[in-house]
Amino acid sequence: MSTPGPARAAAVRAPSPERTPWRLGRRTRKAVLAIHLVASGTWIGIDVVMAVAVFTALLSDDTPTKALSFQALDLFVVWPLFVTGLVCLASGITLGIGTKYGLFRYWWVATKLVLNIMLASLVLIALRPGVSETAERARQAMAGEAVSLEVGDLLFPPIVSPLALLIAVLLAVYKPWGRIRRRTR
Ligand code: HEM
Repeated sequence: MSTPGPARAAAVRAPSPERTPWRLGRRTRKAVLAIHLVASGTWIGIDVVMAVAVFTALLSDDTPTKALSFQALDLFVVWPLFVTGLVCLASGITLGIGTKYGLFRYWWVATKLVLNIMLASLVLIALRPGVSETAERARQAMAGEAVSLEVGDLLFPPIVSPLALLIAVLLAVYKPWGRIRRRTR
């Protein structure tokens, strides 16, 4: 015996348990969003302090001031930035997977994912060697050796990173560009 028309239509529309996407509950979603916001704010804050140290070293003519700025960078920049970047990434991925936004469903989420991975990787690949090297030169300068205390390539991270994070915040708030691909029915 065949299923009557309306009953068959209802059976087709009803979501099967296997196909219902996993979603964060309301309270968990808020908690993860709070972690995400605190991580992204902390990340931007560390970038601002990094900019203060780098520009102090760039603009000062005083060797101890330059050396102190480089040593301060060595203390607080690399690992706090990297860990904050990872927390932001993990909470962002959880929010993506656990909400209607997905990870590769909307351009704004996918772009943030790429930005986050690039920025966190650059901390270890590009920033870490530069910071260690300038801190070493700072130690030598403080020991009375004649070494250059030029800022060099360290000028770029405090400009590039906050700009990229500002773009990520704007993407999160305005959610532009729509879906990556329309779902086929
Ligand atoms: C690059 C660093 C990032 C920054 C600065 C950032 C910033 C933000 C901000 C400020 C919000 C709150 C927007 C609002 O509620 O109006 C947000 C929400 C969100 N972020 Fe990020 N984010 C970053 C990385 C990521 C990553 C890597 C992902 C996932 C791949 C992600 C996924 C999301 C999602 C899905 C929301 C919406 C959550 C909701 O409304 O429930 N974010 N992000």
